[in-house]
Amino acid sequence: MTSTNNIIELRNISQWYKRENGQKTVVIEGLNLLIEDVPKRGQFICLLGPSGCGKSTVLRYVAGLQKPSEGEVLLYGKPRNPADHVGMVFQQYSSFPWLTVLDNVTLALEIKGVPRKERRDKAMAYIQACELEEHADKYAQYPILSGGQLQRVAIARSLVSNPNLLLMDEPFGALDVNTRLKMQDMLLAIWERLWHINDATTIVFVTHDIPEAVYLGTDIYIMQTDPGKIAHHIAIDLPFDKTRQVKRDPRFVQYVYTIEDKMMSLSKKGAADILRKG
Ligand SMILES: Nc1ncnc2c1ncn2[C@@H]1O[C@H](COP(=O)(O)OP(=O)(O)O)[C@@H](O)[C@H]1O
Ligand SMILES: [Mg+2]
Repeated sequence: MTSTNNIIELRNISQWYKRENGQKTVVIEGLNLLIEDVPKRGQFICLLGPSGCGKSTVLRYVAGLQKPSEGEVLLYGKPRNPADHVGMVFQQYSSFPWLTVLDNVTLALEIKGVPRKERRDKAMAYIQACELEEHADKYAQYPILSGGQLQRVAIARSLVSNPNLLLMDEPFGALDVNTRLKMQDMLLAIWERLWHINDATTIVFVTHDIPEAVYLGTDIYIMQTDPGKIAHHIAIDLPFDKTRQVKRDPRFVQYVYTIEDKMMSLSKKGAADILRKG
């Protein structure tokens, strides 16, 4: 049943592409996903799965950048409306380097026609939430800002146009390990601050890193390939105000191994199919 508490619902999705010889290649089939709102908190959804299983495609459906060949995409219990704006943060830095941090963040509001004073106040709230207030007047370009800071500009830009939903496609994939670990804590802190700025933000976060998913996620979905669809859902029951110490907690370690085993058994099945097909 669809209720307005359902933030994202993907129903019976198929995705195929026509090859040059006219044949169809089916990449997603029978994909169903329901992400329900948790008032005052939001969800932190992590999507894991082998390359090519359709993780980015799922985000593109939600962002409105692509429509499935078949099936329904619902946002807030209604068919996705082209006017629904949902921001996305990519692995590559995606801000405008010729604009300052503040101008990057206010741009989305300017396009929406929000008055100047209001757009500055709103933008500054998200710039502060992302700990960028000291950098608001700097150009959003490397090396004036570091990789981690530029990803925070992208997060602030996304949030200002739709604070309830944030899509992130391997956002920390290009960062060095230290920056990546710091960004994980930073993102959890930003998410918590958002509970006070707006009601709640639901984050859908694609990663290849299992410990990262367990550390950040409230729920993890594992996708499979051939055809791409959701294979497993794991609800993560770990303390909310986490620190990195939780990574040594036996429950954390157990989640990592359970997920690794599930992913390996999916890829073994795939390998067995390939061998059978010859
Ligand atoms: N425009 C396209 N034409 C043909 N195949 C595509 C196109 N876009 C995506 N695909 C295929 O769809 C599948 C899912 O892609 P994607 O969502 O990018 O996977 P992931 O993000 O999980 O690595 C891949 O097999 C990819 O090759
Ligand atoms: Mg991808």
